[in-house]
Amino acid sequence: MPGVVGPLKRQLRSAVSDATLAASVHNSQPWHFTMIAQGVAVRVDPTLRPRIIDRQGRWLLQSLGAAIANLELGMRVRTGRTTRTQVFPDLDPHEAGAASGATATLTGAVVAVVEIADDARGDPLDDRLHTAILERRTSRGPLYGDLEAAAWDTVMAAASAAGDGWHIRALRPDPAQTAALVDLTRAVEARWRDDVAYLAEVQRWTKPDGGRGIPPTLIGPGDPSGNVPRREFAVSPTSPRRAPAPSGDTAAPSTDVFEVSPRLLVLAGAPDGPTTWVRAGAAMQRAMLAATAEEARVGFLGQVVEDDEARARAGDLLSLRDEALLQVLRLGAVDPTRHPRRSPRRPLREVLG
Ligand SMILES: Cc1cc2nc3c(=O)[nH]c(=O)nc-3n(C[C@H](O)[C@H](O)[C@H](O)COP(=O)(O)O)c2cc1C
Repeated sequence: MPGVVGPLKRQLRSAVSDATLAASVHNSQPWHFTMIAQGVAVRVDPTLRPRIIDRQGRWLLQSLGAAIANLELGMRVRTGRTTRTQVFPDLDPHEAGAASGATATLTGAVVAVVEIADDARGDPLDDRLHTAILERRTSRGPLYGDLEAAAWDTVMAAASAAGDGWHIRALRPDPAQTAALVDLTRAVEARWRDDVAYLAEVQRWTKPDGGRGIPPTLIGPGDPSGNVPRREFAVSPTSPRRAPAPSGDTAAPSTDVFEVSPRLLVLAGAPDGPTTWVRAGAAMQRAMLAATAEEARVGFLGQVVEDDEARARAGDLLSLRDEALLQVLRLGAVDPTRHPRRSPRRPLREVLG
């Protein structure tokens, strides 16, 4: 950690620790942090990451963006100063494989540098979002209660103001758009379940190893009604494909009552390329933190983004013109006694250095 000494070093280290609590695809935590003179550089971790669901690196870079959002909050709250974030333009779509559809490598690439600026920080939302970092978790169970209007406003504002000039649009689909998006998601999810490479990848990431992956105990049964086509993690290439909902599309019989129609938050932005994906990840993380601060929970319904055709159709039905669909989240209030347990994390010594 050249050039970083004393209290600043401790503050930056704590901020990196905040960053490691961010959401990441399949809990892959594909990040590596290096301290620099007045801040932290964020790189793509050179080890394993999910590739089948993420050929282009969208989810990889959204995971990095989520960590960057936590890092910014941690640095601001811990130093009392504002931050300046530079996302590197050499993450161009060709490098990431977006244009060719090839599997992105991006290994070791510096994605961003977050530095402490001179001004005293002033955004009161920072404190609320920072406090929520420890509490936030991905929900995969029912999210049946709606948020108050003011809570929605906070979530939308937090997502839309994801740092200096990071303009990602958060929108709430109307009921007809929601129904159509859920149908599209259900179709993508059904296709995935016939894909042996996908099933093998899911199986690998649900066997936690070295602080990565999703423990099966955190997955829980799906929605027996089939109304919420969340990602099914309890399938494997060797076990027979489960019968589709409503006859019981779950790892174990479920008595859970899922919401009839999920309450969706959609993120959209342009251009549809790596820098935007990093920014979308920051917006996603901030939306999740704001929801947590408002005592609501967030789950993912982003399968539609993983399929080129479905993503384009979803963009049409949401009337996105020059913007791409970037992420779909579902929000709701839940029984507080059902707060999910925390997923594991890699040790700080492995990701900082
Ligand atoms: C880009 C991205 C996509 C994700 N997609 C899904 C998903 O489809 N289904 C799901 O249950 N969780 C999804 N997650 C949540 C991760 O599994 C979760 O963040 C990770 O297991 C760590 O758990 P935590 O969020 O509770 O800290 C996604 C996270 C990210 C960042």
